[in-house]
Amino acid sequence: MCGIVGYVGHKKAAPILIHGLKRLEYRGYDSAGMVTIDKNGANRFRVVGRVQNLDHAISDIDLKMTCGIAHTRWATHGKPTETNAHPHTDNEGRYYLVHNGIIENHAKLRSQLESEGVEFVSETDTEALVHLISKFHDQSLETAVEKALRHVEGTFGIAVTCIDEPSKIVCGRRGSPIVLGVGMNEMFVASDVSALIQYTDQVIYLEDNEMAVVTPDEYQIRTLDNKPIARETLQIEWTMEDEDLGSFPHYMLKEIFEQPTTVDNAMRGRVVLGEGCSKLGGLQSKIDQIKRLKKIVIVSCGTSYHAGMVGRYIFEQLTDTAVEVELASEFRYRKLRLDETTGVLAISQSGETADTLAAIREARRKGALTIGLVNVVGSTIARETDVGVYCHAGPEIGVASTKIFVSQLVILNLIALLIGRYQSVSLSEGVDLLKAMMELPSQIQQILSRAAQIEDLARRFTKVQSFLFIGRQLHYPVALEGALKLKEISYIHAEGYAAGEMKHGPISLIDADFPTIAIATKDATYEKMISNIQEIRARSGPIIAVATEGDIGIRESADMVMYIPETHDLLQPILSVIPLQLFAYYCALYRGCEIDKPRNLAKSVTVE
Ligand code: M6R
Repeated sequence: MCGIVGYVGHKKAAPILIHGLKRLEYRGYDSAGMVTIDKNGANRFRVVGRVQNLDHAISDIDLKMTCGIAHTRWATHGKPTETNAHPHTDNEGRYYLVHNGIIENHAKLRSQLESEGVEFVSETDTEALVHLISKFHDQSLETAVEKALRHVEGTFGIAVTCIDEPSKIVCGRRGSPIVLGVGMNEMFVASDVSALIQYTDQVIYLEDNEMAVVTPDEYQIRTLDNKPIARETLQIEWTMEDEDLGSFPHYMLKEIFEQPTTVDNAMRGRVVLGEGCSKLGGLQSKIDQIKRLKKIVIVSCGTSYHAGMVGRYIFEQLTDTAVEVELASEFRYRKLRLDETTGVLAISQSGETADTLAAIREARRKGALTIGLVNVVGSTIARETDVGVYCHAGPEIGVASTKIFVSQLVILNLIALLIGRYQSVSLSEGVDLLKAMMELPSQIQQILSRAAQIEDLARRFTKVQSFLFIGRQLHYPVALEGALKLKEISYIHAEGYAAGEMKHGPISLIDADFPTIAIATKDATYEKMISNIQEIRARSGPIIAVATEGDIGIRESADMVMYIPETHDLLQPILSVIPLQLFAYYCALYRGCEIDKPRNLAKSVTVE
């Protein structure tokens, strides 16, 4: 989604803004722009396409200004054009605004402002706000912004500058993240800490309905109705090295190969082997309530939803608590009957996904206990849930989520085990699960060491139009996840199905040009999966199986096999997803796709 960067200090703003925008490229965007200001006026540049084009546009100009704001736009209202790109300005060119989110009453504001003589030049919802700020022009920028925001419905993360006060940025937030970075006589503003980490590790997150006035030496935070807020800085854990590609050609591949470490990080300090139990400090304050919950509802989107679906099977096996899993976008609008006996577990890499955030807000309103399983420390979902567990997986830059999925699965096992040990999971069952978890990093390493074989396999399928992924029980969500990975980065149509559904429709698709990836590891559903595979073979459908190492027999049923090591049943998805991630990556690579930034997608979906 859109990205915001701002700088005010003693250095030239332009290179810092460009660097920040490059750091935000992974979020997905289609145009970019920036403005730098001083007492003499403003220099604004906007381009369609990559930040590189913006960098190129300013390369011959010595921009000396030390204050500016910049933006990457992911089009919602109006096509990706230069005129629609941010920053937007008022008719006098005094105020400049960058905005993430959606101004829902923009049409009404526009016609009102037009009737007062304001001329609009873009098709965006954002432009109405900058004209409104100009209309409320006052002694100070912050007063004008504050008055304008009172008339706005919808969501926003904004940064605003004015040529009359060229050493000041005013930002505000409702529903779209804004973080301040505090440096030495310089301040940064961004929608995501990635844009700041090169310069400072001291940050402050704005909460909803707050604004900040930022000058080189200080920041003042207040509510949108002008109540001052005192907030200390937080130290962020990520470093620039975490975001370096190293020798990898793409972040997605780097992140796939980081998974042994990701699993280690998810377990570090959380395994109490002697007690067959886990220790999760973030849940401790509510553990008495958690172990007595009558129901847990898992809410999430995309890959995190698939992790939640696996989580349902894990909770069913390890706890006596009823468990449901819901797409956050559906859950938030349902007629929910929740109270303190229900726990709503929000799973989110970014901690900023609009639907997941709305779901937990709705759950809290109804009195449920909210639990976060989040990667980004300090993100909105992490802050707004009652208790939570972090993935500690470092930044995930590739739009296609990989390492966070396995991290989420590891932590779901730890949460369920923690609850289950208060219920009916025995010591030896707990110890067996934990021992198997400790084997995972080296088992993942084994799968990764065979990446070249998966690459060969993928190369043979790059011309295929469609793929089917099937699995049963815990592997059903893995089939969905394998299909999602393939379609989002390679643009090959792919569908995930519960294998038992084949005869209820999808088998009619099968012919020699329609391959199936079947997850058929040695578990309770193995024989049934073999039957499904044979039914597909009987209709000439090519079959690639994901199978347990040593299962030579499966070669009689499948055309090609990707092997994974044997593990505890509840941990199998952590291994079976890895060949599917690699398969999707190599298919996209040989199709020449832009892997880390697939078309139309954004890393974090902060609007509905
Ligand atoms: O940050 P979140 O985990 O809440 O994001 C949820 C989805 O937007 C995300 O998983 C998306 O589906 C990915 N592109 C999948 O690879």
